[in-house]
Amino acid sequence: MFDLNSYLVSKNNHINNSLNEILRDRLSSSRIVSAMEYSLMAGGKRIRPVLCIAAAEAVGGKADKVLPAACAIEMIHTYSLIHDDLPAIDNDGLRRGKPTCHVAFDEATAILAGDALLTLAFQILSSIELKNEHYASKWLSVICAISRAAGYQGMIEGQMRDIASEGLMLTLNELEEMHSLKTGAIIEASIYCGAIIENGNIEQIKQLGVYAKNIGLAFQVTDDILNVEGDPKIMGKAVGTDKNRKKSTYPSIMGIDKSREFAEKLADNALQALDGFDNRSDPLRAIAGYIIERKK
Ligand code: IPE
Ligand code: IPE
Ligand code: MG
Ligand code: MG
Repeated sequence: MFDLNSYLVSKNNHINNSLNEILRDRLSSSRIVSAMEYSLMAGGKRIRPVLCIAAAEAVGGKADKVLPAACAIEMIHTYSLIHDDLPAIDNDGLRRGKPTCHVAFDEATAILAGDALLTLAFQILSSIELKNEHYASKWLSVICAISRAAGYQGMIEGQMRDIASEGLMLTLNELEEMHSLKTGAIIEASIYCGAIIENGNIEQIKQLGVYAKNIGLAFQVTDDILNVEGDPKIMGKAVGTDKNRKKSTYPSIMGIDKSREFAEKLADNALQALDGFDNRSDPLRAIAGYIIERKK
């Protein structure tokens, strides 16, 4: 029987070692690197890099091959959290169980630490040792997918809509689109990159795309639910903040019970998309359940 907990511990170790190694090569005495390291190594769940690895494994590949993409994605995710917490956006004081970057350092340093993590991600992605032209073109498509997902056609547009929606009541369609951009896009890119680097075929990439769409949305629906009824000590961030800021969320539009049912339906859809895969996709199957059952 597949044991998700040990899988997550072992992959997290792998990812954290690799992130530490990347940071060790930088000027660790500088204030900017301290701020980058502070947020990056504060203890996130690493779900996006784990998904990248699990997608690679589902198509018969290896974690090592996709680690640079997995690490780059975690850097981009961490940058997005540092900026999301800033006074100009969500103005939050706690993240990953610690004071947010702008509280621990200062606002200017937090903005720059985010900028530096975003650019470092692309430096890592473009420093891959390229064995041949085919490999080079695959990595270019990875860089393209990640930049698209992180930028104005993905997460940034989602963040803009999130800010603009404060105080408004979005329709379900508008909410779904906002969540898919804000959170779904990077999760989808994580899975796509893992699978493409390790030579997933067209049908596999298509089915993994369906899986990714569904768990991406389920992840943010669960984040909304946890913002209502989660335990801030377990989550390492404040709760009740969406309501205070009059954000449109699934619980605010359809209520908690329906939101939970919706998240379950999305996880089921994700599992169905994996029907054609063998037991090498067991980690992805287990993660679909974890995403909606998680307490943090
Ligand atoms: C939090 O992401 C922000 C959302 C997109 C919902 P995570 O819940 O993955 O945060 P960490 O990385 O574990 O801190
Ligand atoms: C942050 O979203 C996710 C990003 C895309 C940056 P939220 O603002 O909804 O997440 P939390 O609750 O602060 O983690
Ligand atoms: Mg936000
Ligand atoms: Mg926030």
